[in-house]
Amino acid sequence: MKRIGIIGTGSYLPEKVMTNFDIEKFLDTSDEWIYTRTGIKERRIAEKDVATSDLCKVAGERAMKMAGVKAGDIDLIILATITPDTHCPAGANWLEAKLQCENAVSFDVTAACSGFIFALHLADKLIRAGVNKKALVVAGEIMSRVINWKERESCILWGDGAGAAVVAESKQGFEILSTHIHTDGAGGDTLLMPGGGSKTTPISHESVDAGLHFLKMIEANKSFKVAVNRFAGACEEAATANGHTIRDVELIIPHQANLRILQAVAKKLDVPMDKIFMTIEKYGNISSATVPIALDEAARSGKLKKDDLVVLSAFGGGLTWGSSLIRW
Ligand SMILES: CC(C)(COP(=O)(O)OP(=O)(O)OC[C@H]1O[C@@H](n2cnc3c(N)ncnc32)[C@H](O)[C@@H]1OP(=O)(O)O)[C@@H](O)C(=O)NCCC(=O)NCCS
Repeated sequence: MKRIGIIGTGSYLPEKVMTNFDIEKFLDTSDEWIYTRTGIKERRIAEKDVATSDLCKVAGERAMKMAGVKAGDIDLIILATITPDTHCPAGANWLEAKLQCENAVSFDVTAACSGFIFALHLADKLIRAGVNKKALVVAGEIMSRVINWKERESCILWGDGAGAAVVAESKQGFEILSTHIHTDGAGGDTLLMPGGGSKTTPISHESVDAGLHFLKMIEANKSFKVAVNRFAGACEEAATANGHTIRDVELIIPHQANLRILQAVAKKLDVPMDKIFMTIEKYGNISSATVPIALDEAARSGKLKKDDLVVLSAFGGGLTWGSSLIRW
């Protein structure tokens, strides 16, 4: 059996920081409300002339550098995003051109906040099947362009950024032991962008005036409870599928939606909070990109030790959720 692993990681966050105090200046909210309800203090915001593929390019280059591979070695690029540069061509196609990965085939995966896990699942399977050899799995979002900055219950949650991983046959360590992905289409109306697709085309003044092109969270406190259950279940699934329990896992790197969701997950799994890696306070929710950004920060900060068992897990719109167990 081939040993497939994550042999390099990279991330990129725009330099511009928007703190809760900055949001207080244009919205009826407070740092205290946002921090106590979400655990978020600040988020990064992409400059106006920057597209998602620009963030992904830097993250991808950093991952390839860590992996010691060249652009020409990559034969597959999967980009997880709900904010591609354009819907046609795919965001991954722009990224492929920017990275000059002339030997790669590239496409997007749309699974909202679980996107990176879905893309990792595909890359792992394609390499195991012998279809591809070296994949660049990227997740990047410019959420600041698809949220309604007048909607205080949701705009405070999101930020921009990108993360990437090189997935390839690995002689030592970094092994992907399993990946697990799930969907529940019946829950699609809780987190969605109603406009911009075939249902509302052509884009009309009415649809724009109604804000249909913004990301909407319907009954956010309901998705809070679903998220806790799905997250916890996905973490356990990754451990048990490999003959382990969650107690054998050194670190859980979850999607970062809300600190209180993560605290509830830790309680449900009966693991201490220091087993849950967190970036929520400084970056907020970057949808698909939170998991690879957190993975890169954990890897580069020395938090991950050789042979550590690490769970990646995510939950998001779709509904989608999933996990992966990795031996570092
Ligand atoms: C959005 C979320 C932070 C709201 O927190 P909450 O504790 O559920 O807060 P509520 O919605 O009950 O709102 C409480 C009050 O705060 C108010 N409020 C909402 N947003 C506010 C803001 N930014 N600033 C100040 N007050 C705000 C509401 O109007 C409400 O006021 P009311 O009691 O007078 O009606 C929380 O539900 C959440 O994070 N949900 C999960 C969403 C999510 O991340 N899903 C997964 C995506 S991957």
